[in-house]
Parts: sequence; structure tokens; C-alpha cells
Amino acid sequence: MTAAVSLTGKEVTFGEDEIIVSKTDLKGRITYANDVFLRIAGYTEAEVLDQPHSIIRHPDMPRCVFKLLWDTISAGSEIFAYVVNRSKNGDHYWVLAHVTPSFDANRSIIGYHSNRRVPDRQVLDSAIIPLYRELKKKEDAFDNRKDGMNAAFADITALLQSKGVAYDEFIATI
Ligand SMILES: Cc1cc2nc3c(=O)[nH]c(=O)nc-3n(C[C@H](O)[C@H](O)[C@H](O)COP(=O)(O)O)c2cc1C
Repeated sequence: MTAAVSLTGKEVTFGEDEIIVSKTDLKGRITYANDVFLRIAGYTEAEVLDQPHSIIRHPDMPRCVFKLLWDTISAGSEIFAYVVNRSKNGDHYWVLAHVTPSFDANRSIIGYHSNRRVPDRQVLDSAIIPLYRELKKKEDAFDNRKDGMNAAFADITALLQSKGVAYDEFIATI
């Protein structure tokens, strides 16, 4: 798949009043990216259109979060998720993403749409970064990627069940 990903370790951010927007087709290929997306990710429009959204995937992101995202949106529901992304030059940026399916007149899903805002720093530092570190550690403990993802997915599901909440409610409460 992707070659070794270079990272600078430098976090970049965007304005509180800005929204990073992208749209994809059913397979997650980018069909639209707004100016804020292009600026922070460091790509031109031509470089991202038709590319898989994983073009900005950061290697620290646990796979199980993307499984939760895709399970939710492909079933026709919306999701909020904290995501760290990688810019073209190797910098990274955190977002709180809202991802929704887009429907046609017959309620068939025709693509997906995401709006992202600057996340709360305290929530990132106190809850999300430690949680994602644990999930990634669990995933990396397995030789087989899928087994690792499923084990971490079971962990996050158990955590949510122990709190008696769905993921969105969990996000809203931290
Ligand atoms: C509308 C939409 C927005 C997405 N936004 C991101 C994003 O900002 N960053 C990201 O890494 N993945 C995003 N994804 C998920 C990617 O499609 C992909 O599942 C993820 O990058 C993991 O890639 P991999 O399975 O190739 O490792 C988005 C998917 C959709 C449908």
C-alpha cells in the first residue's frame, strides 16, 4: 500500500470560525474539498480530487475508529469523530469531524459529506489522545492487521457498553 509515511511531529491548526469540508463518493474517493481543506492539508484541488480520503490518513489513527465510522455511515447514520490527519508535508492537525451520508430522492446513499471543526484541546489531551494511544497499542500487538482492529474495536465497544452510551453520546459527554 502506502510507502513509509514521513512525519514532522509539528501540529498545525485552523481558525475556530473555519470549517474543513470534503465530500466523497460511495468508496471514499474525494469529489469535493473546500479551500480550508486544501490549505491545511497542503494539497491542490487537482491533487486530491478522485483520490481516496486516506490520502490524509495519519499512521497514529487506530483502524477501529475508521471501522466505526464506515459501519455507521454506510448504515445511513451520521457520526462525530475525533481524527488526526497528516498534511502533505508531514505536519498533523486534529479535527472533530461530523460525517454524514448524502441521499437521493429514494433515500439511497449516493455519497458522503464531512464538516470538521477545531476540537477542544482539553478533550483531546485528557480523553482522546490517551484513548487512541491505547487502541493503537492493542492493534499493533497483533501480527494480523484485521485481528488487531477487531480486538481494539471490541475494546471500544466494551468501553461504550460499560458507560451505557452510543459513540456519539460518548463524544458529547467528554
Ligand atoms: C466523508 C468522509 C470523510 C473522511 N475523512 C477522513 C479524514 O479526514 N481523515 C482520514 O484519515 N480518513 C477519513 N475518512 C476515512 C477514509 O475513507 C479511510 O477509511 C481512512 O483514512 C482509513 O484508511 P485505510 O482504511 O486505507 O487505512 C473519511 C471518509 C469519508 C466517507
